[in-house]
Parts: sequence; structure tokens; C-alpha cells
Amino acid sequence: MGIYGDRILPRLMDRVMRNPEFGRIRARVAAGLRGDVLEVGFGSGLNVRYYPATITRVLAVEPAALGRELAQRRIDAGTVPVEFVGLDGQSLPVPDESVDHVLTTWTLCTIPDVRRALTEVRRVLRPGGTLVFVEHGRSPEPRVSRWQDRLTPIQRRVAGGCHLNRPIAELVGSSGLDLTGLTNYYVQSPKPFGYMYEGVATKPAA
Ligand SMILES: C[S@@+](CC[C@H](N)C(=O)[O-])C[C@H]1O[C@@H](n2cnc3c(N)ncnc32)[C@H](O)[C@@H]1O
Repeated sequence: MGIYGDRILPRLMDRVMRNPEFGRIRARVAAGLRGDVLEVGFGSGLNVRYYPATITRVLAVEPAALGRELAQRRIDAGTVPVEFVGLDGQSLPVPDESVDHVLTTWTLCTIPDVRRALTEVRRVLRPGGTLVFVEHGRSPEPRVSRWQDRLTPIQRRVAGGCHLNRPIAELVGSSGLDLTGLTNYYVQSPKPFGYMYEGVATKPAA
């Protein structure tokens, strides 16, 4: 990936993603997790402090070596065991129907083939298990989504492949999971960067 992608971007992400507003969102999103959890796009481990004690263990997937390195002190300070199991959400090294929840926070924007990643999420979830997520994505306001389309090529370059314009609800809804909860809102940032999809999608019982 080069020096920018390998050494600078993960630190930059750690800074940007550490803001208090995101902290409150992380706390809310993680609150209902229990049992075996797979976190895709673990980053620098910023969700670790919000893991509830009802989680048995977290399997973590994260491609950035520096992200994993930065995460280690947060993992060590936490109470939930975390094991790094893979590097790519598009190909999860986890057996079928083996986890209770998959957690993603601001990650589906970046995975190159997001449909493939969501197919993998569906595969590894136990029937009745849930994908729990908060993601930024395409705004329903045409003026904003036009800017998102314009800015995405630049954003992809500077932010490691991040798309501003992905229709997250549509993508999750067409992955074979049932979208059982969804809230949309803007966070405090310029609108093209700040339209959120916070929700839960359930794998139907067989
Ligand atoms: C904006 S950061 C969010 C990090 C973290 N989830 C958080 O909430 O702070 C996006 C993350 O997705 C990761 N990522 C990029 N490509 C990925 C892939 N193919 N599979 C899994 N994660 C990926 C990046 O390395 C980065 O850690």
C-alpha cells in the first residue's frame, strides 16, 4: 500500500475516529452484543472499551498491521478476549453459522466488494444472529448525494478506499439478512461525510 496507507493512514484514522460523538454512538451500538462476536474492520480497537461483559470473545478482522498494533493496548486494557483471525472481510476465515453477532462500525464504506463481504457475514452468522452496524453512506437528499458522488473519487484516494455514497440500507437489505432496525441521522460534520445508518440486520432462522 505504501508509506501513506501503511504508516500514516491508520494513525490518522485512529485520531479521526476517536471523537466523542462517535464514542457515544459506539456505546449504543455495542450495548446489546453477547456471546461470540466477529468484528470486521477492527481498526485500532476503538470499540473495545464499549464491549459489554455479555460478550464471550471477539474475533477480529483487520487488514492494517499498524491498526492492529495500535489496538493492542486497548485490547490489553479490556476484559473481553480478542483474537485476530483474518485480514479481509471479503473472505472470512470463520466456519459457517459460528458467531452470534457481526459488528461493523464505519467499515462497509471501505471494503472493495461490499456485497461479497455481506454474503460472508450472512454465512458466518448463526440463524437468528445479527449484524450490528453503524456506517456512513448515501444521503437521501439529492443535493448532498450529488456531492457525495463528486467527492467519492478523492475520498477513496485519501481515505484508503472509503466511499461516501454507498446505499448501506439497500446493500444490507439485499444480502439475505432482514433489516430489523434502522435509524438514519447526520452527525456533526459536513453533510456529505456525515449521513449515518445505524441498525441491526438479522439472519433468518433456517
Ligand atoms: C474508517 S476505518 C474504521 C475502523 C473501525 N471500525 C472504527 O470504528 O474505528 C475503516 C476500517 O476498515 C478496514 N478495512 C479496509 N478494507 C477492509 C477489508 N477488505 N476487510 C476488512 N476491513 C477492511 C480498514 O483497515 C479500517 O480499519
